[in-house]
Amino acid sequence: MKIDKRDWMFIAIIVVVLGIFIGISGKEKTKTVPNNPMHKISYDAAFKNAPGPDASIFQRAFYKPDKKGAEVYCEPCHKEMNVPFPPGHPAKNRCMFCHKFKR
Ligand code: HEC
Ligand code: HEC
Repeated sequence: MKIDKRDWMFIAIIVVVLGIFIGISGKEKTKTVPNNPMHKISYDAAFKNAPGPDASIFQRAFYKPDKKGAEVYCEPCHKEMNVPFPPGHPAKNRCMFCHKFKR
């Protein structure tokens, strides 16, 4: 099979799409919320309605942790404990938008 100009265009597009994909996934490196006693209060708030072992498959599939409930605690405690934000940290609430829970 001969590779003509249109084939090269197609290959180029695939390469570009792959490149963008890898570029985006590389940004998902934001630190997770540590799963330690300090952060237990946030985990507990988020997962307090978690489906138990006997929950139906639907309850599990549609379950979302209560992130907003968990975020309430982040900033006040970090302020109180003087946990520094890195310079230029994108500020304010919605912490969980970037900092994910560990499972
Ligand atoms: C009760 C206090 C407290 C609460 C609530 C809390 N934090 Fe923290 N957090 C700390 C302290 C203290 C540290 C630094 C020491 C450590 O890692 O435990 C820390 C560290 C971190 C780190 C850095 C971890 C690392 O690997 O360097 C991130 C990210 C973080 N917290 C995010 C959050 C988010 C998001 C929330 C809300 C969902 C939250 N924290 C709620 C006290 C708290
Ligand atoms: C728009 C995304 C975004 C939001 C919202 C956000 N952060 Fe961050 N945070 C980052 C990035 C990016 C870093 C840089 C270092 C890293 O975590 O990889 C960072 C770093 C941190 C660190 C220092 C981690 C370390 O030890 O290097 C802490 C602590 C932290 N964030 C806490 C919070 C808290 C608490 C909130 C909510 C009040 C919050 N962040 C909201 C993106 C975000």
